[in-house]
Amino acid sequence: MVNFMLNGELVSAESDTDTPLLWVLREELKLRGTKFGCGIAQCGACTVQIDGNPMRSCVTPVSAVEGRSVTTIEGLATPVGEALKTAWTEAQVPQCGYCQSGQIMQAAGLLERNPSPSDEEIVQAMNGNLCRCMAYPRIKKAIKTAANGGAMS
Ligand code: FES
Ligand code: FES
Repeated sequence: MVNFMLNGELVSAESDTDTPLLWVLREELKLRGTKFGCGIAQCGACTVQIDGNPMRSCVTPVSAVEGRSVTTIEGLATPVGEALKTAWTEAQVPQCGYCQSGQIMQAAGLLERNPSPSDEEIVQAMNGNLCRCMAYPRIKKAIKTAANGGAMS
């Protein structure tokens, strides 16, 4: 059994300890906002925050989060997260939507570290989050909007 904080609440996962966190979240704990894309840390669809840092849950064994704090898209309620969600909606970022929770979790990690990133810093930070719908310009626009206003200003 692995005990950890999930979106502010203590949970106990009973899956095998080498089960990827992604599958514990989706299948055992029924939080389906975090997506499976590649399974090999190459697309970013499965991004969650572990102790505030964006991590790929598809390659993170659940044993690695024992005693740590995991945040998924369902629990992203920080000022940065709220600003991003508002900006995302205003910019109508999603197309199919599949990559979007991972994009927002990655962007939240960026803005928590760097509240006013340059274009280059945004591109660099988001480089590993792929979008098959090519929503990149809107993703970048929403991150810049969130960085420049709303609940973060
Ligand atoms: S599913 Fe984890 S990075 Fe693609
Ligand atoms: S919105 Fe479709 S994959 Fe990104």
